[in-house]
Amino acid sequence: MAGIYIHIPFCKQRCTYCDFYTEVAPQFIPKFIDSMVKELKIRKDYLQNAPISTIYFGGGTPSILNREQFSTIFDAVYNLHTVADDAEITFEANPDDLTPDFLVSMRSLPFNRISIGIQSFDDQDLSRINRRHTSTQAVNAVKDAQQAGFGNISVDLIYGLPFQTLDDWDRQLDMALSLQVQHISAYGLTYEEGTPLWKQREKGETAPVDDMTMNAMYLLLREKTSLKGFEAYEISNFALPDFRSRHNSSYWKQETYLGIGPSAHSYDLISRQWNIASISRYVEAINTNQPFFEREELTLNDRYNDFVMVSLRTSDGLDMQFLEREFGTELAGYCLRNIKTFMDSEKVYYAEGKFRLTTEGIQISNLILIQLMKV
Ligand SMILES: C[S@@+](CC[C@H](N)C(=O)[O-])C[C@H]1O[C@@H](n2cnc3c(N)ncnc32)[C@H](O)[C@@H]1O
Ligand code: SF4
Repeated sequence: MAGIYIHIPFCKQRCTYCDFYTEVAPQFIPKFIDSMVKELKIRKDYLQNAPISTIYFGGGTPSILNREQFSTIFDAVYNLHTVADDAEITFEANPDDLTPDFLVSMRSLPFNRISIGIQSFDDQDLSRINRRHTSTQAVNAVKDAQQAGFGNISVDLIYGLPFQTLDDWDRQLDMALSLQVQHISAYGLTYEEGTPLWKQREKGETAPVDDMTMNAMYLLLREKTSLKGFEAYEISNFALPDFRSRHNSSYWKQETYLGIGPSAHSYDLISRQWNIASISRYVEAINTNQPFFEREELTLNDRYNDFVMVSLRTSDGLDMQFLEREFGTELAGYCLRNIKTFMDSEKVYYAEGKFRLTTEGIQISNLILIQLMKV
């Protein structure tokens, strides 16, 4: 089984914290769709005819496209690949795009999952980070999606927004959990270099949340989602039974995927490649038969690092038998030697052949992962 990721690099306005590659340039959309279809054709053999079990439109803002534009892309995907009948097919959406009419038109396409970028239900938070929706629009987007027949809805939230207190975050969680969604992705705010938010912090114009409060927010997130029956199947991802994101899980399980569009990444078990992060250069390269991606052959160490990095973040854990079989006894030994200190300090535990992070370990997961990496 394999996945297809389609990157729609357009936004109506840029949020202050975001460093994903996107542009506010709607005039390029038609030419861009054309080029994507060409890329799909050029790379039709990349997945070697593997059946497609997940298709994910991410962004940027996929919900900026209309039905016809999605249809054009779907036609190409279905003509070139065998898509499994039960494939999970998701699009990311910004709440203000999700009008009842738009949602109904999306239901008439193969989509069966929506991931709505809410971030916060607090209007003051939303305006500080330059989101273009309001809290009311966020709530209505979820309700209208349910009304339109979407039974697999995920919402994205960010905790640790400037000026946010633990009580504020508590209210955000109550709000999200009252909406009867099946999946929540919640990320601690990161200050990415070069973003407007980063600059605000440099100038002392914002109030970053301290580490202790961030940790408390994360613990609250785990506690409240768990009480409502959500499983923390990855550090930032929470799902009701049977509603894990299959697309994300396939990244974590090291399955192959094809990434289409500017800045999209692809993986075929032996190499990783990434497309040019520029709409205009991407369109030009595709249309003049020039290279539009860079490629890197993965060494054994790279593959080991990727595996450890993703699997230890999941509740399924790091399978030592698999690690030894795939990467050999030397790397397995390296992993065991380095993980021991974290076992001794109860940041990691071992059960049924797998290492998993404890709640305390999750809070220093980056540090643990760095120690396990083989350079
Ligand atoms: C790149 S966005 C695309 C989805 C959609 N455009 C949106 O904004 O709702 C994917 C998710 O990444 C998260 N994200 C992006 N930048 C972040 C940051 N600096 N800190 C924490 N979360 C971030 C947000 O939760 C966002 O919904
Ligand atoms: S968070 Fe989403 S809407 Fe905001 S700039 Fe990033 S991709 Fe665009």
